[in-house]
Amino acid sequence: MIFYSTPPTLYCSGCWLLGCCPLIDLSVEVAGLRFRNPVLTAACPTVRDGERIRRAVEGGAGGVVTKTISTRPALPKIPRPHMAEVRGGFINAELWSELPLERWVSRELRVAREVTRAAGIPLIASVGHRPSEVRRVAEAVADYVDGFEVALAYLKRSSDMAAAVRAAKRFGKPVFAKLGVLPPKTTARVARRVVEAGADALTISDSYGPVLAIDLSTYMPEDLASGDAVMGSWMGFGWLSGPPLKFMAMRMIAEILSEIPGVPVVGVGGVSTGRDALEMFMVGASAVQVCTAAILLGPQIYGRIARQLEALLAKLGAKSLEDVRGLALRKLLSRGEVLEPKPPVYYPEKCVGCRLCELSCEYDAIEVVNGKAVLHPDRCFGCGLCVTRCRFGALKPPY
Ligand SMILES: Cc1cc2nc3c(=O)[nH]c(=O)nc-3n(C[C@H](O)[C@H](O)[C@H](O)COP(=O)(O)O)c2cc1C
Ligand code: SF4
Ligand code: SF4
Repeated sequence: MIFYSTPPTLYCSGCWLLGCCPLIDLSVEVAGLRFRNPVLTAACPTVRDGERIRRAVEGGAGGVVTKTISTRPALPKIPRPHMAEVRGGFINAELWSELPLERWVSRELRVAREVTRAAGIPLIASVGHRPSEVRRVAEAVADYVDGFEVALAYLKRSSDMAAAVRAAKRFGKPVFAKLGVLPPKTTARVARRVVEAGADALTISDSYGPVLAIDLSTYMPEDLASGDAVMGSWMGFGWLSGPPLKFMAMRMIAEILSEIPGVPVVGVGGVSTGRDALEMFMVGASAVQVCTAAILLGPQIYGRIARQLEALLAKLGAKSLEDVRGLALRKLLSRGEVLEPKPPVYYPEKCVGCRLCELSCEYDAIEVVNGKAVLHPDRCFGCGLCVTRCRFGALKPPY
């Protein structure tokens, strides 16, 4: 660690590259709870007991949300297998905590309380699922935790979701309402309902499903006699998390904040780098949670994401998260729909002639001649794809 005596407005010329720049305060307050950084654990196996919570805290998590605790342990109903890395994502058919409520109270939450207190960070119990269960679990664990996250994805009716939130609110602690992936319009309506029921913040979102994956590389037997689904659940159905979920979560966050400005939202879905986290903040999130990346890469990921985020903020010249929070959302709201086609802005000096743009332009508006892209603006349909295909910064958006 490098220490600085320079005034906090000056950045060290390169320390952010090392991920140790102490000049940006990453601590955030959400629903009255102060987190040492905005990268929290998400309810999942990486926080399935006190010992794993200890590892997450040591790995740099800014705050802890436990695996979802319910009145009954999930065992013996957990399908096997129930976790799989698939191309482009992650699928699970895991349920809530396999540990009984009594075990959380007698042991796991005591360990979790001790390690989170020592680190000075909040401990939030994820509680599920029906209102009566939420009330029982919240009552049993209230003395150990700083707040509750109510897992609402299992409930179908928004009236039940509101009742579950009210059940957790009885204990005088902040309540985060965690929604599953919902379609447009429904998202904002349900979010409003749970906020009116007393939710202090929203967690967006749970994994998406059900989905089906057949993994040939792992499961196709040598003799090709049969293939199998990656999950041991009924029909092999599971729930999708990781990179693809980020786009769904971001859409939901943007929709919610455009309808209910000011409600604190914790973004969760596919966050594995500081850049993913920054995107969530840009659409208005106040903090993020990490599940899949922590399962796949280990508990050090929380601190790594926080350091990468800090480095990105420094690079952007931001002094705090507040400088960037909601920037993209404000732009989206003010610009409306863009219908006018405009060709990309081309920087020939950066072009290396790789042909990726030419290959992908369905309108024949780019060709590579003598190792350089040549743009035909008259044929350009303004689809935008080439800008995202160019790896060398030679094509930039015109807007
Ligand atoms: C194996 C696994 C178990 C999970 N268990 C829970 C759970 O008990 N309660 C809950 O609210 N969400 C649960 N989730 C959802 C995650 O908390 C998170 O919302 C989702 O995976 C998206 O984040 P990610 O893309 O970082 O994984 C689980 C996800 C996975 C992959
Ligand atoms: S914006 Fe679309 S149509 Fe225009 S050059 Fe790029 S890929 Fe072709
Ligand atoms: S993708 Fe970029 S670098 Fe490659 S040919 Fe097109 S403009 Fe040039």
